[in-house]
Amino acid sequence: MTRIEHIGDATLYLADCREVLPTLSELAAIVCDPPFFTPAVHYQSRISWGRSWSDLSVLGEYFFQFAAMAKRALAEEGHLFVFCHDESYPVFYPGAYRLWDFTSALVWDKTRVGLGKIFRHQYEMILWASNAGAYAASDGKLHSDILRHPPTFSGDRDHPVQKPPALMEELLTVCTRPDDVVADLFMGSGTTGEAAVRLGRSFVGVEQEPRYFDIACRRIEQAQRQRDLFVHAPVPVHPVETEIADLFSVAAD
Ligand SMILES: C[S@@+](CC[C@H](N)C(=O)[O-])C[C@H]1O[C@@H](n2cnc3c(N)ncnc32)[C@H](O)[C@@H]1O
Repeated sequence: MTRIEHIGDATLYLADCREVLPTLSELAAIVCDPPFFTPAVHYQSRISWGRSWSDLSVLGEYFFQFAAMAKRALAEEGHLFVFCHDESYPVFYPGAYRLWDFTSALVWDKTRVGLGKIFRHQYEMILWASNAGAYAASDGKLHSDILRHPPTFSGDRDHPVQKPPALMEELLTVCTRPDDVVADLFMGSGTTGEAAVRLGRSFVGVEQEPRYFDIACRRIEQAQRQRDLFVHAPVPVHPVETEIADLFSVAAD
């Protein structure tokens, strides 16, 4: 572990998440976006050899270890959300299946097409794992398993695969309460942290790349400052109700 920053209710680690995750407990949600390309190695350079199950086993073993640590760190009523795509979902799925009561796929619909060959990508998947009795906000709404949010424009991104904060806010609003602790173990530029702070949740973030860690610190500080401004906005000296009451008393005179 090389650095720890405390920003309001957020604690950010510049570290490998496998060092930090075993120290966490009673988390209300883990929302994370690990590297999920397949095969996990040789992806760019593979030209002359075929596809094999061993390609997938590297990523599978990595996720199995991560899922076991995540399960220990989550509260019984907590939620795990892991971003992935159609090829990594089946690799991750068995790791979560054996540990939680429920495992299913949410779809992030980006609302427009992006890169891709012939059929272009318009969605990502989110592996969602939870237990019977998991917390859900009683807001009277029916929540779809398709979450529609446009991606952050490339010109506005600080990280090549940065997620839109509104997407993280939707997950956290439905599955956590104010003051709950939310963690992102592959924090990148800090999108989950920004959403958590905006919603009044405590946050633990881990990122191993110093340049993304610094960006995450900046974004989370900014979100914290905006929230403080809102929370500590000066109370009007003459509350509106008093002024309205005064108007009536003048009219009565
Ligand atoms: C897909 S990106 C996350 C992007 C993030 N959701 C955002 O909106 O900016 C994954 C991040 O995980 C980091 N990472 C990969 N392995 C890690 C590890 N073992 N511990 C901590 N961070 C790791 C990478 O440096 C990368 O920034």
